[in-house]
Amino acid sequence: VTAPLRISVIGTGYLGATHAICMSELGFDVVGVDVDPDKARRLSEGEVPFFEPGLEALLRKNLETGRLAFTTSFADAADADVHFLCVGTPQRPDSGAADMTYVDGAVEALLAAGPKAGSLLVGKSTVPAGTAVRLAGWLAREAPEVDLAWNPEFLREGFAVEDTLRPDRLVFGLPADDEWYGVADRTDLGVQTGRRERVEATLRAVYATALASGTPAVVADFATAELVKVAANAFLATKISFINAMSEVCEVAGADVKTLASALSYDTRIGGRFLGAGLGFGGGCLPKDIRAFQARAAEIGAGDALRFLDEVDTVNLRRRTRTVELAIHLLGGGAAGRRVAVLGAAFKPNSDDIRDSPALDVADTLRRSGARVTVYDPAAMVNAARKFPDLRYAAGVSEAVADADIVLHLTEWADFREIEPSLLTSLVRRPVIIDGRNTLDPQRWRDAGWIYHALGRPNV
Ligand code: UDX
Repeated sequence: VTAPLRISVIGTGYLGATHAICMSELGFDVVGVDVDPDKARRLSEGEVPFFEPGLEALLRKNLETGRLAFTTSFADAADADVHFLCVGTPQRPDSGAADMTYVDGAVEALLAAGPKAGSLLVGKSTVPAGTAVRLAGWLAREAPEVDLAWNPEFLREGFAVEDTLRPDRLVFGLPADDEWYGVADRTDLGVQTGRRERVEATLRAVYATALASGTPAVVADFATAELVKVAANAFLATKISFINAMSEVCEVAGADVKTLASALSYDTRIGGRFLGAGLGFGGGCLPKDIRAFQARAAEIGAGDALRFLDEVDTVNLRRRTRTVELAIHLLGGGAAGRRVAVLGAAFKPNSDDIRDSPALDVADTLRRSGARVTVYDPAAMVNAARKFPDLRYAAGVSEAVADADIVLHLTEWADFREIEPSLLTSLVRRPVIIDGRNTLDPQRWRDAGWIYHALGRPNV
């Protein structure tokens, strides 16, 4: 591999923009390509079109070095040595399966632009198992001198820069030598030897900094590399739904799920992370990935193996229903005409992402039941108002809770933990709060005269 590598990043959404910016921070020449001119323009002007701590400063710094550019033209990516495929794979409304339109569109556009011989296409998008083999066959037919690798991405929103620059592991899905991926007539090109080594060497050059600081690299075949990503997300979703299922049991047994989780966490085989009981998971990844994983497993004949993920999904959605029902119960049996204050709109704190946000799902269900719902979130107001124009939005916590019959704490921003409950008591009509994330201090709220309810904890 001859340095310095030129890198293109195809798709500059959450994953791609972060990846492009971090790759230029590592010293590579990077061009980010997106079909959306608005995205490319905003990034070129130093604006990150979503909320991610630390990313915009890094974008500006690297734009200034001249190493980083954004474009809508695939031609600008043609001379890159490595192309990262970072486009989205949204859930198809009909089946829950992953929509591959953007992946296929990106590969088609790259091939039309004429990628360099010897360049490497690296898949990062979360895809159904079998996609890499299919794309390898496509390349074998149309651009046999372009290599393919599969390198899933595990970044968390809110920690995207840290997770990209210092990942906890790297997964390198490599092609097999002597394999033309179903394209029989390509044997005319001779035996492919050393392809696997060549691809691995390029990936090791791209990730040299992380590898040097001890990040482990797991080398795998294509299918395993694809599966690592969805298996990881399925495990995390299962862990959350497990503790939320315990929460349901705690509610009827009069037990406390937070104490239960804390006791479980000392068993190092279990561990304490992702045992936060509450309103459950949302976002652009976990819900869609477990559904797409099930859909794909069923297609390839392993549907039985993932049937439990149906239950993981169901337990997760039942937390939202339970929160709505508890709110209606605490409102005296009906929501019509009542004022509900919702603290939180993003699917999790430190994010402005509202995709499949449990908070907004609960807020909108209460609105549809006749409540007058006012929402406040430190970062996600613009996105929330665009998608849910019928909710009301307040400029701060005090405004949101003014005259409320009930307050719902649904996204656990640090700001909300720091609220002094006694300052809100006189603002609301009735001092009743549901802590849907189990992160407020019950004693503080009760001492300030509030009726405090949590999920999975005794309400005394
Ligand atoms: C997730 C994976 O963590 C990441 O590795 C993958 O690349 C993409 O999907 P992200 O969607 O950013 O990342 O969010 P994450 O921090 O994992 O949280 C997912 C959801 O689970 C949030 O709605 C969060 O509120 C919820 N959650 C998380 C819980 O309800 N309880 C917990 O204990 C942890």
